[in-house]
Amino acid sequence: MSFFELINKRESCRDYSDKKVDKELLIKCIDAARLTPSACNSQPWSFVVVNSEEKSPLVAQCTQTNGINKFTANVPAFIIICEEEAKLIGGVSQKYAQGDVGAATLNICYAATELGLSTCIMGSVDREKLKELLALPESKNIRLVLAVGYANSDKVRNKVRKSIDEIMTYIG
Ligand SMILES: Cc1cc2nc3c(=O)[nH]c(=O)nc-3n(C[C@H](O)[C@H](O)[C@H](O)COP(=O)(O)O)c2cc1C
Repeated sequence: MSFFELINKRESCRDYSDKKVDKELLIKCIDAARLTPSACNSQPWSFVVVNSEEKSPLVAQCTQTNGINKFTANVPAFIIICEEEAKLIGGVSQKYAQGDVGAATLNICYAATELGLSTCIMGSVDREKLKELLALPESKNIRLVLAVGYANSDKVRNKVRKSIDEIMTYIG
């Protein structure tokens, strides 16, 4: 698969099969996150990987907020993506950390796609409930939760996006 094919193939999956995910594949996804560039190489992220028949359904419940994300009920694995303190040249600053965490999240999504997995990034999460469930410190800054599993269908949807004209100013 070429890079551009990979970009097209990645999409938010909201229909997962019951197939389990190998731990080794999840480690490869985290390795892709590890290699993400970040401001001053501050790497302001950490990841909690939940791949458990017992715990994954409980994480799913924490994502089912505001009447959405009901599809997570049978998702086999989740990656909880946390923002950590960013030490930049000149001192600690979170100015770029959220962008860095977003970039790491996408690297995970692309790695997962390459490995035949499907993902859905979720921002709508009950963070307090999730921290309690996983015994994470109150100070943990959970930015996103990623659903990871195998899609029920391999049909790729058309991407709904703004046109290039709407988003690009070209100065030639
Ligand atoms: C920061 C962020 C938060 C998101 N939160 C949710 C969410 O809580 N539930 C959900 O179903 N999709 C969520 N999405 C997925 C977006 O809806 C999706 O990426 C967008 O509609 C584009 O579709 P695609 O990912 O299939 O290309 C989120 C995506 C991002 C980047």
